[in-house]
Amino acid sequence: MKRILLVATVATFTMGFAQADGAADYAGGGCASCHGAIGVSAIPTYPNLAGQNAAYTVKQLKDFQTGARKDPTMNAMAAIIAGKEQSIADFLAAQK
Ligand code: HEC
Repeated sequence: MKRILLVATVATFTMGFAQADGAADYAGGGCASCHGAIGVSAIPTYPNLAGQNAAYTVKQLKDFQTGARKDPTMNAMAAIIAGKEQSIADFLAAQK
């Protein structure tokens, strides 16, 4: 029982840190200016990202990086956060 509690606590801490990293990576990447602080956009031409499946978000960011998906703004923005796709996607998936 004690061991189960410990594992649960460690998992909670680990997830907490991962999400804090994602929030910082997202804000630090300048994403919030268009997509909103938690991925809910105030501007109709910018998509909402909150609650999106993380695997989908990671794929879009990688496609923007390789040019498989073309959008001049996002091709540049995705390059800035290279290596942080997963943490940002996990943060966004956890938002409502
Ligand atoms: C200057 C405004 C702007 C900034 C800054 C910006 N984006 Fe975007 N983003 C857009 C627009 C516009 C699109 C839609 C592109 C298209 O039509 O394909 C988009 C699309 C996306 C998508 C795809 C959404 C979907 O539903 O397929 C993701 C994911 C994304 N942005 C993440 C980010 C991240 C992460 C950052 C920060 C590194 C960021 N964006 C910064 C404007 C912006």
